[in-house]
Amino acid sequence: MRKKIVAGNWKMNNTLEEGLKLTSEIVNMVNDEVNDDVTVVLAPPFIHLTSVKNSINGAEKIYLSAQNCNEHPSGAYTGEVSAAMLNSIGVGYVILGHSERREYFSETNAELAKKVDAALEHNLTPIFCCGESQAIRENGDFVSFVCSQIKESLFHLSESDFSKVVIAYEPIWAIGTGLTASSEQAQEMHASLRTYIADQYGSEVADNTSILYGGSAKPGNAPELFACPDVDGGLIGGASLKSRDFVDIIKSY
Ligand code: 13P
Repeated sequence: MRKKIVAGNWKMNNTLEEGLKLTSEIVNMVNDEVNDDVTVVLAPPFIHLTSVKNSINGAEKIYLSAQNCNEHPSGAYTGEVSAAMLNSIGVGYVILGHSERREYFSETNAELAKKVDAALEHNLTPIFCCGESQAIRENGDFVSFVCSQIKESLFHLSESDFSKVVIAYEPIWAIGTGLTASSEQAQEMHASLRTYIADQYGSEVADNTSILYGGSAKPGNAPELFACPDVDGGLIGGASLKSRDFVDIIKSY
């Protein structure tokens, strides 16, 4: 059975004080209101990871993610953070290949393949992001475009390593825009990705791969998205900065 996961990507938001307030609100609400079958992941900025970890300590259902890591093991890469460093402070997940990193930091599929390797080597679960632009959506090649992102960054993995990866489909045209993919659009893409994975690794691996949806997910549209058979949770941006909205999204599963 694949995992249901709802992850909050805080991006570059919140002072430490704001982030800790948000964390404690989420921890309290999740403990009181959320049943056990959804894994909750919080992805604060690097600098707040340890403090947020201390604040969620004891909340069994809540895990910690970084928003990126460097592909190199260590060395002269000023300003960067390695997978080993994240592992050493108790981080369990790392978001890789977010469209904002692809766009603003020129991350390529080939570079992301190396980041995925680094993450797996240090026992981090990659949440690998993929998704097409508005232009690609309009020209109709969106399924093959997203499949090629997955092929170029993930299909070098062994079956056992691929089985550790979580995928997040985030259509760029839906991120932070208020435009959500319809449940039909999300289901079509998620089912296509699962078939593509099955062709490479077999149907058992594909059936066990969690594929999350991200892009203007909110309490109002999450129930419909999460009802799609191939949508296994969400990667939430803006709405994850409001504890009530984030927990309502988790509960709508
Ligand atoms: P929004 O939920 O703000 O559209 O962001 C989605 C996202 O980019 C999560 O990684």
